[in-house]
Amino acid sequence: MSFNIAIDGPAGAGKSTIAKMAAKKLGFIYVDTGAMYRALALYFMRCGIDVSSETGIAGALKNVSVTIAYEDGRQQVILNEENVTDLIRTEAVGNMASATSIYPAVRTKLLSLQREMAANHDVIMDGRDIGTNILPDADVKIYLTATSRERAKRRALELKQKGIACDIDAIEKDINERDERDKNREIAPLKQAEDAIYLDTSDMGIEAVVEKIMAIVKEKQ
Ligand code: DC
Repeated sequence: MSFNIAIDGPAGAGKSTIAKMAAKKLGFIYVDTGAMYRALALYFMRCGIDVSSETGIAGALKNVSVTIAYEDGRQQVILNEENVTDLIRTEAVGNMASATSIYPAVRTKLLSLQREMAANHDVIMDGRDIGTNILPDADVKIYLTATSRERAKRRALELKQKGIACDIDAIEKDINERDERDKNREIAPLKQAEDAIYLDTSDMGIEAVVEKIMAIVKEKQ
């Protein structure tokens, strides 16, 4: 039986950084489910599909395949045989992923891929509905969050380090809009699972959060 760790939480809470580090320490596979929604979003953007057209989106899904591969332990996202891992990291793609992940057809398309990965490997999987919907029986569930200001600050620092100018208020507004949409959609909204451990990282460093998660996992292993 594989060991599954589910990490959910809002945009910019540090889920991927922390999950990647913990996966390395544990020798688990890190599965970034947001990247799968982003790959589909990139496809919809390239096709020029109207976000509000559920039938357009559902129709487009017939021609699209998203698969996951690993290169030196790094998750690679393959969209119709093209490696789009780096292309999907923009804010525009993230917002499109949030807007299109509300549709049942989009979620259904990715559900079995996510469950199959967890059934076949020890995984740390992050997203919005992993503990509540994708892996309700996960061995460990964490709900990772931080204040929207703190999350905006971290994002701004990341952009600054890449030499990209940004406005922290605009980033915070964007984060809040995305959270609202992800929390209030009808299907599989972002929500803390009843049996998830709540971790507010606003005043915690990355190492401390990883150590905390390692301690939680060790107790269950
Ligand atoms: O984690 P992220 O920023 O890469 O995710 C992009 C969007 O994808 C997010 O705003 C909502 C959607 N998503 C989702 O609906 N369910 C998931 N398990 C992961 C992401």
